[in-house]
Amino acid sequence: MMAERARVGVLISGTGSNMAALLYASQAPDCPYEIVLVASNNPDAPGLALAHGEGVATFAQPHKGLKRAEYDAIIDAELTRHGVEYVALAGYMRLLSDTFVEKWQGRCLNIHPSLLPAHKGLDVHEAVLEAGENVTGCTVHLVTPELDDGPILGQTRVAVLSGDTPASLANRVHYAEHQLYARVLADLVRAERAPEALLGRVRTLALALPAAEEKRSHGAPGFFVRGGKFFAYFQQNHHGDDITALLVKASGVEEQAQLIENDPDRYYRPAYLGASGWVGIRLDTGTTDWAHIEDWLNRSWRASAPKRLALLPF
Ligand code: GAR
Repeated sequence: MMAERARVGVLISGTGSNMAALLYASQAPDCPYEIVLVASNNPDAPGLALAHGEGVATFAQPHKGLKRAEYDAIIDAELTRHGVEYVALAGYMRLLSDTFVEKWQGRCLNIHPSLLPAHKGLDVHEAVLEAGENVTGCTVHLVTPELDDGPILGQTRVAVLSGDTPASLANRVHYAEHQLYARVLADLVRAERAPEALLGRVRTLALALPAAEEKRSHGAPGFFVRGGKFFAYFQQNHHGDDITALLVKASGVEEQAQLIENDPDRYYRPAYLGASGWVGIRLDTGTTDWAHIEDWLNRSWRASAPKRLALLPF
């Protein structure tokens, strides 16, 4: 089964050439993301027409008369309505409210036409030329409340040529941006879907439960309750099945069968443990609901913990 591609929403204010680069890169068969929404604060942004013409949903809402937080709530609702998982800012010339940034932290990227931390803000190419620098470039970074700040995910260097004007420099930096953005976004999605990253998330949730510990069992990372039993196993390519999954304890084989019948792409009957009511939940579908995984771990923990612990309220 091919994993679903990560759903990306792009916010633009103008030309949208970076959005277009992301969009066309997503046509590669192995691209791990797809653009599901292009939204803008400028209804006349040329990028909106391009996205529409390419069959991508668009949304335009002028910001005039709205408070920043109100405006961002409208954009956020639209992103959520389209099931967006990652937000890519591409020439989106508005500051974002802290609420928006916090909600999307780690999943909101921005591209900036300089080698950050040099030359934040506007009129970057003018500043580069004025400073007489001979190298500039572009940066993709995660968005934090601070403008043009946040962890850098990738950069490309661009030579400044004699006779360059801000326009000629901007033009060349654009070429570099178009390559960089698509690559960095794809790399981020792939990294977060890699088995090691999935194990990291499972581990964080499992070890947050009272008296939970980790120990390998039959070659797979397992999680058990001190003084109790195993409540979860993380399996990757177990016996060459090419599946990355979490195994948890359902209430019995009946519930296990029900789960598999209702959602056969996600649930399966694991080898060996299946007979005792364990169920496999695939983590490699690209549509994992981590709050749901957390609920499963809690349930499975309760079923495996000694009574005195299982009665603890948490
Ligand atoms: C890009 O050069 C981008 O780096 C810049 O706006 C341009 C948008 O072009 N963004 C910023 O300066 C953000 N601080 P585009 O609409 O053709 O993608």
